[in-house]
Amino acid sequence: EALIAAVCAAPKAELHVHIEGTLEPELAFALARRNGVALRWPSSEALRAAYAFDSLQSFLDLYYAGCDVLRTEQDFFDLAWAYFQRAAADHVVRAEVFFDPQSHTARGIGFDVFMPGLLRAARRAQDELGMRADYILCVLRHLSEDDGLATLEAASPWREHIIGLGLDSSERGNPPQKFARLYAQARAQGLRLVAHAGEEGPAASVRDALDLLGAERIDHGVHAADDPALVRRLAAEGVALTVCPLSNVKLRVFPDMAAHNLPALLHAGVKVMVNSDDPAYFGGYVNANYRALLAAHPALDSADAYRLLRNSLEASFAPAGPVAAWA
Ligand code: ADE
Ligand code: ZN
Repeated sequence: EALIAAVCAAPKAELHVHIEGTLEPELAFALARRNGVALRWPSSEALRAAYAFDSLQSFLDLYYAGCDVLRTEQDFFDLAWAYFQRAAADHVVRAEVFFDPQSHTARGIGFDVFMPGLLRAARRAQDELGMRADYILCVLRHLSEDDGLATLEAASPWREHIIGLGLDSSERGNPPQKFARLYAQARAQGLRLVAHAGEEGPAASVRDALDLLGAERIDHGVHAADDPALVRRLAAEGVALTVCPLSNVKLRVFPDMAAHNLPALLHAGVKVMVNSDDPAYFGGYVNANYRALLAAHPALDSADAYRLLRNSLEASFAPAGPVAAWA
């Protein structure tokens, strides 16, 4: 209990959070009303009750449906500002935030609508909360590589405000090699490279994200544990895995928190840390993830907890390095 309280109060970085996954049901209903959009659920309580998932896909279907209420610059500002306030309450000093442009451009909502709103919220987080926040553009892997390339091209006017490229959505049937040209392009533009891999997919997709895409950090990556040689490589090369414990339990990657392999990866020397993924859908923000993990794994001690917090800061892409995250 004392350890959990100390961890919750400690400065930390959050490196794996999807801004569209921070849409709380109450805000979804407020935006639906403001924009005259009909939702399939009668109330925010009914929507929250629908958050019972049996797989990544069952979650994604609801997540993309929720995006429909996001229409205006102010909507994106309200969404991101609500996240930054919640993150600051959890002592997040550095946030690297994913956004899914294709879930908006496909509905006719362009970069000129969502980027100004997202960026205004990040500037306010810096000014009022002392939080350093940056955005990572995620490409939806269930769409074609050409659609991803067009998205990267559409982002070019905003290039200086985007620090990296990521890859998310349905992992099954959409392996890293599908996006090799996209990652080569992004790398040539100087973007930092991350990719979701080994969430539902196998250890081989973690290896392919490193070798075929040049990913510097792996989002989730928990199935790397199925390949001991790969675990040794991740540890030796200091590759960070942005693990999301509550997400993994909600999406049945593990049957329960006690079965989560984060402690094993940590003790194998892999640079893991704790993140929230889609906190509005999975039952909590980053401190709730630390709390659930530590409560289910009493063998994790203060040195382990300190390592997790330190890993989050060290694995960040903050321009001036991890110490600046405290400034
Ligand atoms: N998009 C939002 N959250 C995701 C996750 N956990 N995996 C893949 N795509 C996502
Ligand atoms: Zn994710």
